[in-house]
Amino acid sequence: MNNGSNHVSNTALIVALGNMHSGIQYAWEIAVIREAEAEIYKAFVKCGYGAYFDAARKVFEAMLPLRHLALSRAIENVGYINLLEFASGYDPRGTIFAGDPRQHVVETDLSGMIRIKQALIKQLVGLRPNHRFIAADATSAISICRTTKLLPEGPIAMACAGLLAYLPDEKKNAFIGSVKQVIRRRPGSVLFATSQDFITTHDMKTWREGELGRALFAVMAHLSGQDFYPFPDTAAIEDFLRGHGLSYNRRKQLDLVPGYGQSLEPGLQEKLSSGEIWTIGQFV
Ligand SMILES: C[S@@+](CC[C@H](N)C(=O)[O-])C[C@H]1O[C@@H](n2cnc3c(N)ncnc32)[C@H](O)[C@@H]1O
Repeated sequence: MNNGSNHVSNTALIVALGNMHSGIQYAWEIAVIREAEAEIYKAFVKCGYGAYFDAARKVFEAMLPLRHLALSRAIENVGYINLLEFASGYDPRGTIFAGDPRQHVVETDLSGMIRIKQALIKQLVGLRPNHRFIAADATSAISICRTTKLLPEGPIAMACAGLLAYLPDEKKNAFIGSVKQVIRRRPGSVLFATSQDFITTHDMKTWREGELGRALFAVMAHLSGQDFYPFPDTAAIEDFLRGHGLSYNRRKQLDLVPGYGQSLEPGLQEKLSSGEIWTIGQFV
């Protein structure tokens, strides 16, 4: 996925497609401008899974808006004025938060991607002084610490969705190293991440038991140019965080967004019920 800083992610287009009809502000416009529907359909056809596009889309439309909304709610609940988003892709959260002039937002992604995002948001809402777009590799503590200087004093809410699962172990460690540097410089800062970042070998096996799951993973691998790097199991995730001196708590995404998904088919509701938001920091 991150093969060169100019690389533009196409996996982010899957999220854009999933959020398209969610009612999330700017999501529809972003998906239309980036032609997410046509691009993702092409990828399914190319991988030989064209017949699964509609079913896959239903899964994306159920899971991805919940992930976005739950992460945003967790960030709002902490009540900080500073937001630093890692690997923001096409997610409109930064633009939504920056609509409140009291908020300060720095969005980061690899350089090719963040340039596209900045141009897109300029076209949609114009550029705002409280919303910055910075090219930064999330696994580079130096780049990340530089970006924090753009935010006013005080703790920072950091956000990460759909990045960690693509990073091999040494990059996962480097990413958490960046997060720790931010926490050290800005005490009270926390990282909000999603359970889709902390994917385990068991999760992948379960998904791949069905043809639809195999289609989803094949298309994601095609778009990103790589497969996921799952954690062996939940205990390994806990060890990983504790090993870095970090503590965490976990909340169900559905508890953060009450009423979400009530009209969905039972199979999809069940898939949503495993989604969580992890709040990671140095808690006493
Ligand atoms: C699946 S997309 C998720 C985008 C967004 N967070 C969302 O939920 O819509 C993954 C994103 O990670 C970015 N990315 C990949 N490697 C990265 C790295 N080392 N540092 C920063 N961003 C990275 C990609 O450019 C892409 O935008």
